[in-house]
Amino acid sequence: MSLRNKKSTLRGNNLSRTKMSLNVDVEELVTEMEEVPTFAPSIPVPNVQEMVRNNPLQVPERYVRSNEELQKVNHMPHLSSEVPVIDLSLLSYGNKDELLKLDVACKEWGFFQIVNHGVKKEVVQKMKDAATEFFELPIEEKKKYAMESNDVQGYGQAYVVSEEQILDWSDALVLITCPTRYRKLHLWPKTPEGFKEVVEAYTSEVRGVSKKILSSLSEIMGTQKHVFLGLHKDSLEGIRVNYYPPCNTPEQVLGLSPHSDTSTITLLMQDDDVTGLEIRHGGGWVPVAPISDALVVNVGDVIEILTNGKYKSVEHRAVTNKNKKRISYALFVSPEDDAEVEPLDHMIDAENPKLYQKVRYGDYLRQSLNRKMEGKAHIDVAMLEHSDTRNED
Ligand code: OGA
Ligand code: NI
Repeated sequence: MSLRNKKSTLRGNNLSRTKMSLNVDVEELVTEMEEVPTFAPSIPVPNVQEMVRNNPLQVPERYVRSNEELQKVNHMPHLSSEVPVIDLSLLSYGNKDELLKLDVACKEWGFFQIVNHGVKKEVVQKMKDAATEFFELPIEEKKKYAMESNDVQGYGQAYVVSEEQILDWSDALVLITCPTRYRKLHLWPKTPEGFKEVVEAYTSEVRGVSKKILSSLSEIMGTQKHVFLGLHKDSLEGIRVNYYPPCNTPEQVLGLSPHSDTSTITLLMQDDDVTGLEIRHGGGWVPVAPISDALVVNVGDVIEILTNGKYKSVEHRAVTNKNKKRISYALFVSPEDDAEVEPLDHMIDAENPKLYQKVRYGDYLRQSLNRKMEGKAHIDVAMLEHSDTRNED
């Protein structure tokens, strides 16, 4: 009997959640026996939260950015209030003004905040409480879930590819949530109790929101819904919980290096009382000021490729501050591993020649994860020669 069949037999017998006498979760055990795909290796680096816990004043050389990098682009906080805000309840009813707002947001910002999204407050609060409790655990406990040497699932830092690389002032917990056969359940925290169920409840609610947004995007992109949603039938989905400890000299470091997301869309919940996310707009960095209960949504590389650059996956980064930690929850929604992504026919004409080649999504993702985060450099993998849509602002 194949492993997959065994698994469904076990599930069919209603055993999947039965704890055996060895206190082993059968679902976890069976998943472990299957081949779970890996994504990319990352070199292990110090835990930033622990570093700050042991010596709050110290900022090692390895984290200090050059003045050139930090001052290259203006800081433009006065534009924060202009980041588009979209009402999901209106969008879901097909309200034309709201759809137009979505189109403008995707063209001009690549980012927007959504309100009235219907995600239950208790579910969000439980996610925040569980994550806070996890990060407060002693390092020895958290290390039980450390990323393995060949993959980015678990607790640690991703995108570290050389010993010389300047490091980000953050730690993360990365969990692939869908397809469920990709889950590495041994890396899902067992403390606090019920963590898995909390993540499942949170991601399930936010997934519902993502479906509505994908559906509206397919409308403004002029694609047939089944084509666009088809790409996401067995969609790859992961959550990355980012932990940014305070930093004694926040102006010298970055919480997260500038990058664009490789996803189709990303939905980010951020703390209400600390600003950290900044996006590239109009030649500068614009902070995204938190709106209580809103989700920040951004267009990922997949939308940029499908629309042949009409909607851009905009570069963003996270900064830290002197006094307060910050936690953010990014849910990445992407096509399935085997999906082929290329510009849609109707996005190409004489004035808009094809900029990107066809890529298998899983390859694109792995190649991006195999290099350090460096703005939009990784989109080169999908770029046809001689085309360059970067640095337009
Ligand atoms: C990310 C990301 C921003 C933030 O995880 O990809 O861009 O504010 N996070 O944490
Ligand atoms: Ni991001």
